[in-house]
Amino acid sequence: MRADELRDMYLTFFRERGHAIIPSASLIPENDPTVLFTTAGMHPLVPYLMGQSHPEGKRLADVQKCVRTGDIDSVGDASHCTFFEMLGNWSLGDYFKKEAIAWSYEFLTSPKWLGLDSEKLFFTVFEGDADAPRDEESAGHWKAMGVRDDHIFYLPKKYNWWGPAGRTGPCGPDTEMFIDTGKPPCSPRCNPACGCGKYLEIWNDVFMEYNKTADGKYEMLRQKNVDTGMGLDRTACILQGKASVYETDVFTGIMRVIGELCAKRYGQDEGTTRAMRIVADHIRCATFILGDQRGVTPSNVDQGYVLRRLIRRSVRFGMQLGIEKGGLIHVAAAVVDQYGGVYPELNENREAVMRELTLEEDRFANTITHGLREFDKLVSRLRGSVIEGPDAFRLYDTYGFPIELTVELAAERNLTVDRSGFDESFEKHRQVSQTGASQRFKGGLADASEMTTRLHTATHLLLASLRRVLGDEVSQKGSNITAERLRFDFSFPRKLTKEELSKVEALVNEAIGADHEVNCEEMPVEEARASGATGVFDARYDNVVKVYSVGDLSREICGGPHVERTGELGRFRIKKEESSSAGVRRIRAVLE
Ligand code: ALA
Repeated sequence: MRADELRDMYLTFFRERGHAIIPSASLIPENDPTVLFTTAGMHPLVPYLMGQSHPEGKRLADVQKCVRTGDIDSVGDASHCTFFEMLGNWSLGDYFKKEAIAWSYEFLTSPKWLGLDSEKLFFTVFEGDADAPRDEESAGHWKAMGVRDDHIFYLPKKYNWWGPAGRTGPCGPDTEMFIDTGKPPCSPRCNPACGCGKYLEIWNDVFMEYNKTADGKYEMLRQKNVDTGMGLDRTACILQGKASVYETDVFTGIMRVIGELCAKRYGQDEGTTRAMRIVADHIRCATFILGDQRGVTPSNVDQGYVLRRLIRRSVRFGMQLGIEKGGLIHVAAAVVDQYGGVYPELNENREAVMRELTLEEDRFANTITHGLREFDKLVSRLRGSVIEGPDAFRLYDTYGFPIELTVELAAERNLTVDRSGFDESFEKHRQVSQTGASQRFKGGLADASEMTTRLHTATHLLLASLRRVLGDEVSQKGSNITAERLRFDFSFPRKLTKEELSKVEALVNEAIGADHEVNCEEMPVEEARASGATGVFDARYDNVVKVYSVGDLSREICGGPHVERTGELGRFRIKKEESSSAGVRRIRAVLE
């Protein structure tokens, strides 16, 4: 079964069971400053899991684009990828454990659907702790499907609990479905959580009935939700009987292009296979980030930094394979060809993707030239034959010079690098920057606090005012809202003048002063577009969206939440206007 067929089959199964099919949201979370990327289908749906009504109803199904870079160093093995598609079905306060489990079982085992051998399927459920009870109910529903006791494992929170998207929010116990790959057990206690590779997770049903609060407590949510996630590549891998996701049909075209560019053969040796997988994964991920509805460009912060790392790592592993400069855009083209039918934004942004990839390749070439100069200086000062860890780290940190290159160049000169010293410096730096990252954000829209909600409405007024003052070509490039301030990125080619900034500020304050009602209407996305609403047109076909409008100033597609009247906002003040990246400006503002 091709991955395309699996995607369609999944959506058909849930459509037949009353689910509305919603399109994938952007990879860049809107209004949630606690995460850089959408890492699971739940992110864009948090407000609805918390109890807001979704315009498409209480049963949804989707295929969500996801990026997870936590395991970037494992990419290259059989199953890790930085980008993946997650198939999901959702109950927003509608069905719960019984139906979710029965449908999961039917979809996996029925010959009409995936037809997997039930003997090879294993299940885990939450064993219970002080926060929530042992999930006998889920185990009971599996047994009702005919699953034997020895195919069910009870595991602690670490394995069978899905946490909130940020620090707070909807969460709950889950039940996970595994396939036995046929490997021998690693020990008598071998189980789906031991990580030996015998059991491969393919699907996770999360029962979100709790809200984790800021003080770490679990309170009951207003409604019981179901959030499920099935990895498309992994499941395709099993259905196609392949040893790795990189050997499924998803990657066939992409790998063919890489093979043509480097004249090496996938599988010829471990290093080549790993490098080819890394290039395939990273360029797929970079293409999706660049080509996203809310696409970002390479930079030194946040999403742009992750993107930069993905591209530069691809260049580096490409070099190892002998891929010449300018080759990677052909890999990106293969990604667009593979996915453009399902994600039209990739076709729409095809040229921008190619342009940005080329620019970043050029910048990296410059970096390498600079780094080489520093490397030579370092070597000329060297006493002995070892490059110390902190020196190698400085090359990496200050000049962006990859450690692998330092090691290779050192070897050419009969020198060695103190790798553990480098790792130590690296780890020290990582800890410092992680502390920074976790302190940077407080609150966030995920918790829908009063203050963030106000700032969110103010952000709509800001965009509308910017368009009034600067012209309709201004569009939103990103936003990041905490309880203290808003940060808003928009397309505009130059610095704003003082006059322009005061005009924008005055327009927002005028709308606040008029105490307009904030109106919310639901309508098909096409109608919203025709009515002049701004916003990211995530939705396709006849999907229903919410349109929030304020007087005749602002009209925007958005999931909320918002205040009821603009009079609640207080006084709006722009604190700073600066460049964010090429062609994108950034405004920081507060409500006083
Ligand atoms: N949110 C759950 C997951 O990503 C379904 O596994």
